[in-house]
This record gives sequence, C-alpha cells and structure tokens, in this order.
Amino acid sequence: MKTIKIKVKNSGIVKMQFFDDFPDGNLVIGEARKNIPFDIRRVYYINNLFNKKSNRGHHAHKKLEQIIFCVNGSFVLNLDDGENKQKIIMDNPYYGVRLGQLLWHTMEKFSSDCVILVLANDYYKESDYLRSYDKFIKYLKRK
Ligand code: TYD
Repeated sequence: MKTIKIKVKNSGIVKMQFFDDFPDGNLVIGEARKNIPFDIRRVYYINNLFNKKSNRGHHAHKKLEQIIFCVNGSFVLNLDDGENKQKIIMDNPYYGVRLGQLLWHTMEKFSSDCVILVLANDYYKESDYLRSYDKFIKYLKRK
C-alpha cells in the first residue's frame, strides 16, 4: 500500500512512525501537526466486521478532514473525487489515507479481523455530510 500513488484530489498517504522490531509487539505513533496534518478533535474506530456483505461510507464531507487506518486485517477503500476514482487495498497499519474534503468514499471487503481507526479534525456534525452521490456531484459543481 505504501508504494501506491494517490490519483484522487484531497487525499494522500500518511506515514506513521513505527517500531516493528520488538519481540514484544509493534508500536505505531502519530502526532498532531507532525505526521497527522491537523489537530485531532475526534477519534472513532470500527470493529466487529464479521458480516462479509458489510459496506460502509457512501458519503463525502464538506469541510471535515480525516485520516483512515486499517490497524488490523484488511479492507478495500474506494475513493472518488467526482472526476477520478481509486481503489486502495488497506492492509498496512503503518500507512493511513487522507480523506480530505469532498471525497466520496466507500469501504468494503473487510476481513473478519479488520479494525479501522479514523482521526478527524472536528466533532461529529451531520450537517457536514453529503449522503447522496447526486448531492455530492451537485455540491462540487456549485463551488
Ligand atoms: P457514518 O459516518 O455514516 O458511518 P460509516 O461511514 O462508517 O458507514 O455513521 C454511522 C452512524 O453513526 C450515523 O448515524 C452517524 C453516527 N455517528 C456519530 O454519531 N458520531 C460519529 O462520530 C460518527 C462517525 C458517526
């Protein structure tokens, strides 16, 4: 995953600091305004992804900035900036993907041991969501 080139707008790869040569387990670190490009106001994680048909996301944000990590297992992240689309296999806990503004995203094909961690630069606000693809495209054109 670290070698992929991000083709969509408002995204990118975020590299964590990590120590993976300890016999007692790996340590992974992110620091706000250092490798995490904002101040973190909210953290959420998604687990219990045993349903093979799980399909999450299906929205974009107007203002919110997020970094998404797969801290265990794997899943497929689909990104769409309204012009370019990209499919990313998330299977490396040391690299996150920036979900910047106005990036439609969906998540699928979760391994049953998958755990997703998201860091966000603001509190939860339903008014920041664009929850239909049609609204997303209209919002992009309005700008
Ligand atoms: P949603 O962001 O749509 O989940 P996903 O993108 O992972 O599929 O959120 C699902 C529900 O959880 C929705 O009703 C809003 C609620 N929610 C909060 O209350 N706070 C939060 O921080 C998040 C991310 C979601």
